[in-house]
Formats: sequence, C-alpha cells, structure tokens
Amino acid sequence: MIVYLNGKFLPIEEANISVLDRGFIFADGVYEVIPAYGGQLFRLSEHLQRLENSLNGIKLSNPLPQQQLVEILEIIVAKNTGDNQSVYLQVTRGPAKRNHNFPEQIVSTVFVMSEELKSLPPSTGVKAITCNDTRWQNCDIKSIALLANILLRRQAVEVGAAEAILIRDDFVMEGAASNVFVVIDGIAITPPKSQFILPGITRDLIIEAMQTAKLPCQEANISIEQLESATEIWVTSSTREILPVIQLDEKIVGTGKPGAVWSQVYKIYQNYKQQLRPNV
Ligand code: PDD
Repeated sequence: MIVYLNGKFLPIEEANISVLDRGFIFADGVYEVIPAYGGQLFRLSEHLQRLENSLNGIKLSNPLPQQQLVEILEIIVAKNTGDNQSVYLQVTRGPAKRNHNFPEQIVSTVFVMSEELKSLPPSTGVKAITCNDTRWQNCDIKSIALLANILLRRQAVEVGAAEAILIRDDFVMEGAASNVFVVIDGIAITPPKSQFILPGITRDLIIEAMQTAKLPCQEANISIEQLESATEIWVTSSTREILPVIQLDEKIVGTGKPGAVWSQVYKIYQNYKQQLRPNV
C-alpha cells in the first residue's frame, strides 16, 4: 500500500511520525473517509467542505491548498489497487512538546491511505442495538478522537450486532459510525443536522436522491418510541452505504426483512454510483 505522508508518497511500512505528534498524544486532529468508485472520488467537494468545517471546528487551518489535496487523493487512488477504494485522509495538529494548549506555530501532519472497498451483494439485513450516546457535544466535527464511538460499536459487536444506534435525551442521534433513517407510514425520516450528529455525505445524498425520485423523505427528530415502531431502519455511511436493520435490540423490525423503501433507495444509490464510472 502506498500512502501519502507530509509531502511524500511511500510504502506504508516506511511512513513514520513523531511520537510527540498531537494526533498520537491528544487525538488532536480530524479525518475524512472518501469512497472512490472506478477510480473516481465520490462526492469529493462535499467531503472537502466537511473537512474544512472540521478543521475550523478545531481551530486548525488547512495546511494544503484544496487543489493540491485533490491531486494527492487522486494519486493515492491511482497508486493503490482496487476498482473501488476507501480513501482515508487525516490532518493532525502535528508534533509539539506535550501541552494541552497548542502552539501558534506548528506544522500539521497530513496522512492519506487507501484500501480496497469490496463490493458486497445487497445486505439481507443486520442487527442493531440502542445505546446511550456517551459522546461529547461536538459530534459534527469529524474528530479522530473516537474512543466513545469505538466502545459503543464494540458493545454492539459483542452481542452480534452491526451497529449501535445512539440515543440522547430519548431521541435518536446517529449510529456509532453511521447516520440513521427510519421509515414510518412510508415516509423516510432522518434526524436534522445539529452539533450532535455528523453531517453524513451518504445521508445528504439519500435525501437528495429521494427528493429527485419524489419519494417521501423528511428531516425530523425521531423519538425512541418512533424508532421502536418504525417499519424500516437503515444505517448509512460511505463504507457501508445503506444497511437495512432487521432487528433492534430483541425486537424484529417490520417484516424482519429489508423493506420496500430501502430496496428502492438502494437501487437509486447503486445507479448513482454506476453513473460516475468512466465509459458508462
Ligand atoms: N464514518 N456518523 C458517524 C459518527 C460516522 O463516523 C460516519 C462515517 C457517518 C456517516 O458519514 P458518511 O456518510 O459521510 O460516511 C455518520 C466513517 C465511514 C468512518 O469513520 O470510517
């Protein structure tokens, strides 16, 4: 695997950073995960805009001009194998003497890697659990400080579930690493953007695609009761796309199979991806 680190393209085994990097010491950094289908970076400007917002959120200015960042991402995709890839981009504040306060003058660390994204057959449905959202209050920043998310996902995996759906004050926020949609009375609903959720690129694309296809979709708060009575639940992300949840905690969701609305939206999403490919 060829990665990019601070100006150089090199094999991952040769990529090293200082142990004083504030990313290592404090998780002082932000990241993006960008899929590339058939060599084309998916919804790139949206991902770069979110990166910019995350950097602003941690008072770090983007160390690279946008055009240079795009070139790096494209080179990484070209240098790595896989028709479909998942590109990981991380910017940390960089190395400095350990101090909670960060210095004004510091050289950020920029790291990019990519791994193959295997195309999977349509999901037959997964299990999810509900958990109290134990994260901080700035979940709109795509921070590399993910310990709460990691432990929540682990809680799900330990009971054979694929995702933890996070509840704050009796309302659904998102998944440990995904956004959440529910279907109630045929209408797809996802929580509105706020400081308590990551503004998912997949989420926005689904809303946009459903509007274009004239399928009912709303951004509204979802209570735990609504979650429990939904006929469909989906979790969405760049790497998992749109996963239908067929069991929530101990209860079967809807018919216990991926729902009809999911099926329509899944097809639209696959077509959209397909259109990006060159020579199609
Ligand atoms: N995570 N919410 C959280 C907390 C996430 O970590 C993610 C994605 C999403 C979905 O965002 P998007 O549709 O832009 O991928 C929502 C990535 C995939 C990760 O951390 O690996």
